[in-house]
Amino acid sequence: METNYQDVLVDELARLQETFEQLGGYELQAKTDAVLEGMGFTTQDLERPMNEFSGGWRMRVMLAKLLLQKPSLLLLDEPTNHLDITSIQWVESYLQNYASAFIVVSHDRSFLDQVATKTVEVAQQQLHVYMGNYTFYEQEKAQRAALQQNAYANQQKTIQQTEDFVERFRSKASKAKQVQSRIKALERIEKVAPVAATASPIKFRFSTQQQPGKVVASLAHAEKNFGPLAILKNASAKIERGDKIALIGANGKGKSTLLRIIAGLEAMNAGESILGHNVNMAFYAQHQLEALYLDHTILTELKRTGAARSETELRSIAGMFLFTKDDVFKKIGVLSGGEKSRVALAKVLLSEANFLLLDEPTNHLDMVSINILAQTLRQYAGTYILVSHDRHFVAQVATKIWYIEEKQIKEYPGTYEEYTYWEQQSA
Ligand SMILES: Nc1ncnc2c1ncn2[C@@H]1O[C@H](COP(=O)(O)OP(=O)(O)O)[C@@H](O)[C@H]1O
Ligand SMILES: [Mg+2]
Repeated sequence: METNYQDVLVDELARLQETFEQLGGYELQAKTDAVLEGMGFTTQDLERPMNEFSGGWRMRVMLAKLLLQKPSLLLLDEPTNHLDITSIQWVESYLQNYASAFIVVSHDRSFLDQVATKTVEVAQQQLHVYMGNYTFYEQEKAQRAALQQNAYANQQKTIQQTEDFVERFRSKASKAKQVQSRIKALERIEKVAPVAATASPIKFRFSTQQQPGKVVASLAHAEKNFGPLAILKNASAKIERGDKIALIGANGKGKSTLLRIIAGLEAMNAGESILGHNVNMAFYAQHQLEALYLDHTILTELKRTGAARSETELRSIAGMFLFTKDDVFKKIGVLSGGEKSRVALAKVLLSEANFLLLDEPTNHLDMVSINILAQTLRQYAGTYILVSHDRHFVAQVATKIWYIEEKQIKEYPGTYEEYTYWEQQSA
């Protein structure tokens, strides 16, 4: 009998379709779209070729690919670095629901608090495991340190007493046996190590600056567009002396552009941007690194700010930004991009400016440095506006929140915590 090829093919097709379905083939497109949307891509973006995207966006595509592959162990090295808050939150909820294991390296404290169920610290060439998120780690570490310090102090006391006893009765024949057994005990003792000293608190003070006028900067009827792309439309805003503003919002909204406009580094299509009386500003942005002299050492570059600071003080500031000991003699030319931005940031803090404009200052910092920067800003008597996607940092340093919406500059007059509460209420 003749083989019915059609039947064979139909069977084959059914079998393949079943496999395809089992592998999730039919949902793949929908899942891909959902992941990419979560990362901030628009529907039109999905059809654009990769080479049209900047490095940050390509990073997101790579992250999206990983998330879609769902490996049984996902390793993520600083996945939030180029993401804005909305996208970070999306990755957070994705990871919270991720069925398999993942290990993530990150300096974003809020992110770690949301996704981590275990925290591993590398210290003194050892791995220290903590069974909780970052906040848990911090509390537990302090507790462990307190316990260890206690045990250490108690043991030191016992050792001292024993040594005193040995010293006192060494030559007494009647006590010879006791002295011997105590010497033995001393030898046997398992020494508790003292708690390793944490970095000493930074004693850095901004020097007193000239007092600016009450209005530090103002924008009136600002119009800004790049060709067909409108960023600001009839936007107005005012920065007053003492304002501590965080400018937040999705990538591409125009945050960097707005900072550059205020700093006078970017022309507008219409409108007015005015700096107040006696304002001297310092601007920090990653694209500003060209201002560094490549053949200077870090130390000479810091000296160049002109501020009357002792070498000790300059070194302590370099230390804040992770340049310790001989690092300060490295030439700027050999530094990585991240290291250069830390030098530039240190210079901003050393300048005697009374108005700081900081575009994503925490990007190349680790958590200790972010913390130090936050503390430094909190005791800064001047005015600043900064762009950041680090929620914990923003919560610590801002008393006003700015965001760009419908080409306007919107202001929420409160902290980030109050802002998110207000945002949830109004949603
Ligand atoms: N010099 C430029 N020429 C053309 N487009 C630009 C230029 N600078 C920025 N843009 C575009 O303007 C938009 C806002 O950019 P930017 O201010 O860097 O946003 P944000 O800092 O909020 O991520 C982006 O879509 C960006 O691609
Ligand atoms: Mg930007």
